[in-house]
Amino acid sequence: MTGDRLAGRVAVVTGAGRGVGRAIALALAAQQAAVVLVDIAAEIPEVPYPMASVSQLEHTARLCRELGAAALTVRADVRSDADTGRVAAEALARFGRVDVLVNNAGIAAPSGRIVHEVTDGEWAVMLDTNLTGAWRMIKAIGPHMVGRRAGSIVNIASTGGLVGYRNFAGYVAAKHGLIGLTRGAALDYAPYGVRVNAVCPGSVRDSEPGEGRMLAEIGRSIGLDPAEHEEAFVTQQPTNRLVEAEDVAGAVVWLATDESRSATGSVVTVDGGYGVR
Ligand SMILES: NC(=O)c1ccc[n+]([C@@H]2O[C@H](COP(=O)([O-])OP(=O)(O)OC[C@H]3O[C@@H](n4cnc5c(N)ncnc54)[C@H](O)[C@@H]3O)[C@@H](O)[C@H]2O)c1
Repeated sequence: MTGDRLAGRVAVVTGAGRGVGRAIALALAAQQAAVVLVDIAAEIPEVPYPMASVSQLEHTARLCRELGAAALTVRADVRSDADTGRVAAEALARFGRVDVLVNNAGIAAPSGRIVHEVTDGEWAVMLDTNLTGAWRMIKAIGPHMVGRRAGSIVNIASTGGLVGYRNFAGYVAAKHGLIGLTRGAALDYAPYGVRVNAVCPGSVRDSEPGEGRMLAEIGRSIGLDPAEHEEAFVTQQPTNRLVEAEDVAGAVVWLATDESRSATGSVVTVDGGYGVR
C-alpha cells in the first residue's frame, strides 16, 4: 500500500537484507519514510545457514528507492556496540534524525536440540543476536529519540516470545526476553514521548521476492521434509495459511505512525490465530 503516512520521517530497520526485514523496509518506504537499512551481510560461524549478502541488502535499497524513498545501507552486526553506534552516527549524519527503529535482525538456529545439549557458544549467539542486539540498538538510538521527545521503536519478537517450542529453548528465551525488554523500555521512555512495542509473527512464508529463509531453517532444525515444511506450519495456524511478510510489515507501519500514539508496551500478534487456540 502506498501513501505518505511517514513522509519526512526516518526509519532504521535491522536485518533488512531479506525476508521480513525487507518487507518492513519496503512498507515504510512506500509511506515515504527515508530508510536506513542495516544488515550484517556476512556469515555468523555458529549459525548453520547463510545470512543475507551485500547484494541482497543493496537490492532492498534499490527497491526502496524505486518507491521514491531515500535509502542508506549500513553493514553492521547488532551484537557489536561499535557497529550499532556507527549505525546511529551514519543515520544522523545523513538524515539528521531518526523517528522509527525496527529491531528485526534475528536468527532461528543453532536450534533443534534438547535444552541441556545447547552449547555455551550457541546459547550466547542466540541471546546476543535476538535479545541483546535490540538492546544495543536502543542504546545507540534511544538517547536521540529521548532528546527529541519523539520516536517509535518496534521489536520483532515471535509467537516464541509468548509460548514455548520444543527444542528451541534459546530462541524462546531470547524472544520472551525481547518482550520483557519492550515492556521495560516502554515504561522508561513513556515520559519522553518515545513508544516501544513488539510484534509477534506466527509462521511467515519465505516469500520468493523477499528471499527470506527462516521458516525453512526452522523446519530443517526439527527434521521436517523441505518439500512439506510449509504444510506442517500451515496446519498449526487456525486461519489455515501462512503469515505473509507484508502482513507483519503492515502492523509495523501502524506502530511507526502517530495513528498508534496510545500504544506503548503492547504486543501485537500477527499469527493467524495461533496464540488463541
Ligand atoms: N520467518 C518466520 O516464520 C518468523 C516468525 C516469527 C518471528 N520471526 C522474526 O522475524 C525476524 C526476521 O526473520 P526472517 O524470517 O526475515 O529471517 P531471515 O533469516 O530471512 O532474515 C534475517 C535477517 O537478519 C540478518 N541478521 C542476522 N543476524 C544479524 C546480526 N547479528 N546483525 C545484523 N543483521 C543480522 C540476516 O542477515 C538476515 O538478513 C527475526 O527476528 C525472526 O525471529 C520470523
